[in-house]
Amino acid sequence: MPDQPILEVDDLRVRFRTGRGHFTAVDGLSFSVRPGEVLGVVGESGSGKSVSMLGVLRLIRTPNAEISGKIIFRGRDLLALKDREMRAIRGREIAMIFQDPMTALTPVYTVGWQIAEQIRAHERISKKEARDRAVRLLDEVGIPAPGKRVDSYPHEFSGGMRQRVVIAMALSCNPGLLIADEPTTALDVTTQAQILDLMRGLRTDHGSAIIMITHDMGVVSEIADEVLVMYGGRAVERGPRKNVFHTPRHPYTWGLLDSVPRVDGPRVRRLATIPGTPGASGGGCPFADRCAHRHAVCDEVPSLVGGSGHLDACWLPGEDRAEIRRGDRSGLEATPVRHSARTADEER
Ligand SMILES: Nc1ncnc2c1ncn2[C@@H]1O[C@H](COP(=O)(O)OP(=O)(O)O)[C@@H](O)[C@H]1O
Ligand SMILES: [Mg+2]
Repeated sequence: MPDQPILEVDDLRVRFRTGRGHFTAVDGLSFSVRPGEVLGVVGESGSGKSVSMLGVLRLIRTPNAEISGKIIFRGRDLLALKDREMRAIRGREIAMIFQDPMTALTPVYTVGWQIAEQIRAHERISKKEARDRAVRLLDEVGIPAPGKRVDSYPHEFSGGMRQRVVIAMALSCNPGLLIADEPTTALDVTTQAQILDLMRGLRTDHGSAIIMITHDMGVVSEIADEVLVMYGGRAVERGPRKNVFHTPRHPYTWGLLDSVPRVDGPRVRRLATIPGTPGASGGGCPFADRCAHRHAVCDEVPSLVGGSGHLDACWLPGEDRAEIRRGDRSGLEATPVRHSARTADEER
């Protein structure tokens, strides 16, 4: 695997101005992805996964958004590009599968037409060639009878087949990077496994890097090489999948792992649900309000540190971590549930 990252994000920040002050949705996020690598971005709903990736693609359309940091893709800083240059990258060099699968497909055109148009937006090829390519892509993503189905409308496909079409569309220009936002969330378990298989194939056959956004640790364990755990707009843990699963270091990651159902394991513990969203904190550790190990120093933001590519942002003494985790598998459950989300009010 080549060492040079295809995407390097440094200190990404996204703030929304609201009538009552600022809300920081992404708070100093840094990560990189190498060609052919799958980065799993995981965290509960509201932790800033979608906003950060939309930020990378400069797709946050609300006029009240402020975005800063460095986003280097194939050597170019995306935040410095003209809109026209950015449009040329989107869809061709970086493709995105959006969280809502219906936004990707228009109900009024056949899927073949939509894939062909997507190709023709970036490449000068004839309609016939584009259509032939659409058929090949549908075949590649496992749509039966692609020569026929190319003329079907989105509503004529099942959920799983529609998601395959969306993936075919994303692949149409052979992107170096595919960002997939919860691509399997709406699907049943069997279909989900098939889609993950398909995405694994992409990486092998096309050498594409993939950023896989999910709230599901199970999905991450299936597909990711590297894992980025987000909470409150920040990276709380980052590292190779094996390390994050075998020696998770952040109490939030412990909670996520303990909430994955296991056939052989003890009773499943769920993360206590908090009203509101895990918004970025104004001051200390974003997870402090839910953490069973909170102490005085947590009023300050811990930085993301660690050796051999496995980093975490937590004040707990590193050498005690394994023992704390062992002795406290029920810590999260015991945490008093509090309204921890910061509102724009509090940040004012
Ligand atoms: N356009 C917007 N204006 C204001 N706040 C937003 C906007 N888009 C997202 N947010 C907020 O940013 C936070 C992170 O959202 P999001 O990235 O969608 O979370 P995730 O994808 O991890 O579930 C949420 O609190 C959400 O309400
Ligand atoms: Mg999301």
